[in-house]
Amino acid sequence: MLELKNIHKSFGDAQVLNGVNLRLEKGCVYTLKGGNGSGKTTLINIISGFLKPTVGVVEFKGKKIARFAPYRVNRLGIGRTFQDLRLATQMSVYENILLAQEKKLFANPSTEQQKRADEILEKVSLLEKRNELAGEISYGQQKLLTIGCCIANDADLLLIDEPVAGIDKDNLLKITNLIKQLKQEGKTILQIEHNTDYINATSDHILQMEKGVIVC
Ligand SMILES: Nc1ncnc2c1ncn2[C@@H]1O[C@H](COP(=O)(O)OP(=O)(O)OP(=O)(O)O)[C@@H](O)[C@H]1O
Ligand SMILES: [Mg+2]
Repeated sequence: MLELKNIHKSFGDAQVLNGVNLRLEKGCVYTLKGGNGSGKTTLINIISGFLKPTVGVVEFKGKKIARFAPYRVNRLGIGRTFQDLRLATQMSVYENILLAQEKKLFANPSTEQQKRADEILEKVSLLEKRNELAGEISYGQQKLLTIGCCIANDADLLLIDEPVAGIDKDNLLKITNLIKQLKQEGKTILQIEHNTDYINATSDHILQMEKGVIVC
C-alpha cells in the first residue's frame, strides 16, 4: 500500500537519508529501529508530507504523494503521531478525539459523532479520563491518546513515533494489545521503537536504519 523509492533527504550539508527503499503491505506491522539521529523521524515526516524529500518517490495507493501537503496526505488515509506528542493540552481528552475525527473545529457534534468518539476512547482505555484536560493525564495515557487520535482520523496507515518510550508497565501492556488489535482490524502500521520486548510482541517485520538507509 505504500512504496518508497530511493528517498534522499539533506538539511544543508547534512545528508540524513541516503536512498531509502521500502514497501509496506496492508495489515502488517513494521518497526523501524536505529540509533539516535539516524533519520527515523525524518522518514515519517517525509511519508506524512511534513518534509519533502530532496530526491525520491513516495507512492500510496497508487498515487505519488511526495509533494502533497500534510492535510492531503492525511485525507488519503495516512495518520501519524509525534515523538513529542503535540496534543491540544488545554482541550479535554474527548475533544482531542473529536477534533481528530472531524478534522475541523466543531460546535455541536451529533449523537453519532459523540458515540464514535466514546467508542475510540474505550478502545484506547481512556473513557474514564474523557473529561480531563489532555495536558493533565499521565504521559502513558497521552501516548494512548495520540494513537486514539490516529484511529479517530480514520487512517489505514498509522505512523507511530516511539509509542512506548518512557512509559509505565500498565500502559505499555495496553499499547501492545492495542497495536495487535489494530493489526487484526487490517490497519497497516509503521512504528519507530527501541523497546525489544515490545518490538518482539508487536512486529511482523523489523527494519534497521543505519547511515540513512534501511539495511535489513
Ligand atoms: N528540520 C530539520 N532541520 C535540520 N536538521 C534536521 C531536521 N530534522 C532532523 N534533522 C537532523 O537530521 C538527523 C536525523 O534526525 P531524526 O529526528 O530523523 O532522527 P531519529 O532517528 O528520529 O532520532 P531519535 O532516535 O533521536 O528520535 C539529526 O541529525 C537531526 O538533527
Ligand atoms: Mg526520532
